[in-house]
Amino acid sequence: MAVDQQIIAAKLLGWYDRHARSLPWRVPPDERRRPDPYPVWLSEIMLQQTTVAAVGPYFARFLALWPTVDALAAADDADVMREWAGLGYYARARNLLAAARVVAANGGFPETEAGLRGLPGVGPYTAAAIAAIAFGEPTVVIDGNIERVTSRLFALPDVLPAGRPRLAAALAPLVSPDRPGDSAQAMMDLGATICTPRKPLCAACPLAAACAAGLAGTAEAFPVKAPRRPRTLKHGTVWWIEHGGQVALVRRPAKGLLGGMLALPGTDWGAAQDHALPFPSDWRLLTEGVRHGFTHFELELKVASTALADRRQLPPGIDPVWTGRADVAAAGLPTLFARAAALALAHLPLLEGA
Ligand code: ADE
Repeated sequence: MAVDQQIIAAKLLGWYDRHARSLPWRVPPDERRRPDPYPVWLSEIMLQQTTVAAVGPYFARFLALWPTVDALAAADDADVMREWAGLGYYARARNLLAAARVVAANGGFPETEAGLRGLPGVGPYTAAAIAAIAFGEPTVVIDGNIERVTSRLFALPDVLPAGRPRLAAALAPLVSPDRPGDSAQAMMDLGATICTPRKPLCAACPLAAACAAGLAGTAEAFPVKAPRRPRTLKHGTVWWIEHGGQVALVRRPAKGLLGGMLALPGTDWGAAQDHALPFPSDWRLLTEGVRHGFTHFELELKVASTALADRRQLPPGIDPVWTGRADVAAAGLPTLFARAAALALAHLPLLEGA
């Protein structure tokens, strides 16, 4: 390590020793103890594209229900999917279970970055993070926060992700061989609390004296962004179908977007507004809808509702999971459908005949 890099690495760890966030999956830096890999892995999977604040209650509930990886491996798929509901990206929950079962069958977690990469749902970031935090391997961990801190520290001109290799090369010398997990988490905390996307608190930054962008007063210009293409907008309609105080939910096919999750039945999602209804009935179309952002498109969902006189009116294409009106909110619908359901419940009187 060159001397200046050593100084940066030491300042970073010194700052972390004083200011590390207290997080439920974390061993505080003064304990100098390796955490159990199970909560580390669980938290990292949950934190993929979700905020620390949002993950907290889910993490606590998962650990209470399934305190070990063996317990999780033995869980019912439907129970895990229900507890995951609201975290989004449901493929992650399926991968979580698949990985737990691999780990349980092998008698423990792989202990290296390369080994961890073999687990379902564990990509380059997650493998590097778990290897550093739980097993002390001096990996180069790069998440969104660390990208921002590093690109500012060295004023890296490259657009990401193409600039990743250069960023990794710049970051590698800052990883402490003795405390690689703390090096990574220090960068994460710095990015979350000081080196924020907008209005970074450079005056409070332990690396301010070494930060190329900070010293030039251009921190907010990093990381350099490629021009964004607008996300396409898709439309669809969900059908709120009631009978006898119960609502017809459906389970989505195992593969694909929101796979295996409970849902409201509805049209396919496409470029044109589609208010198609599945069978003749006394339908009401709510004027309000819900908007939801997926990674690659934005969805606008309308809600149409009806009450059946007879359950046999349902066409064979809808295989209903009849759920009491009062139980819909806790049934484990993904956020998008939960919001559509809340809209229906708020706007509809108890449907006649239902
Ligand atoms: N985001 C993802 N993993 C994290 C961790 N270990 N600490 C803080 N933020 C995180």
